[in-house]
Amino acid sequence: MKIRIYEDYEAVSQAAAEYMKEAIDTKPDVVIGYATGQSPIGMYRRLREAVRSGELDMSRTTGFNLDEYCGLEKGHPKSYKEFMKEHLFNDVPVRDAHIPDGNASDLKRECETYDGMIKAVGGLDIQILGIGENGHIGFNEPASSLLVETHVERLDEVTRRNHAVDFAGEDNVPTFALSMGVGGILKSRRVLVIASGKKKAKAIGAMVSGKVTTQCPASLLQLHPDVTVILDREAAEGLQCITV
Ligand code: GLP
Repeated sequence: MKIRIYEDYEAVSQAAAEYMKEAIDTKPDVVIGYATGQSPIGMYRRLREAVRSGELDMSRTTGFNLDEYCGLEKGHPKSYKEFMKEHLFNDVPVRDAHIPDGNASDLKRECETYDGMIKAVGGLDIQILGIGENGHIGFNEPASSLLVETHVERLDEVTRRNHAVDFAGEDNVPTFALSMGVGGILKSRRVLVIASGKKKAKAIGAMVSGKVTTQCPASLLQLHPDVTVILDREAAEGLQCITV
């Protein structure tokens, strides 16, 4: 893993945006796996600004989001579809942007179709990732085994607690979500992990130098040949804290 440590969230966002801009300039029809959450918001803002100023063209890019909640009504402000519109796609023309439909009548089929679409465009060039405090990536939660393909995931307690603020209480946080599998993430040609803040330190330590285990899904990234990790100082404190 290539680890880069920056002062704070703003510097992390700047570095991540530079990474993405270079990738898009080099391959204008790049296929991007998008993540949601606080971690990439600053990077998305910079990409929006770069597109607005004419410095960057994303019009030939294709996107696939990592995950989506199940059971939120259409247009729910906390759905990842709305998140992506707000933080990127309302302002940035792209060729295509896909997100799994957490309300599909046949969720299993939705997952298969989603993986089929990714395959049909030749796979992901770059997967952007945040990391959960419990080491999850996408919504692949710590478990005794993990799934390769896109699937329905039951959200774990830590995750539901961490998202409680978005839904005015833990009880309102959806119980299920669709998520790309760890296999799908590892198939991406490159992976960009973004993390900041003390709360991520332990998970980052386990991801970078802990045991490779399904109990810390992010640790499986150690098996990938091209992972760049962009951290702030606080999240990097975890690099001394090797725990699983
Ligand atoms: C959610 C998302 C993940 C994201 C994680 C961390 O669980 N499904 O894709 O990486 O939250 O979010 P944040 O960046 O807000 O800490």
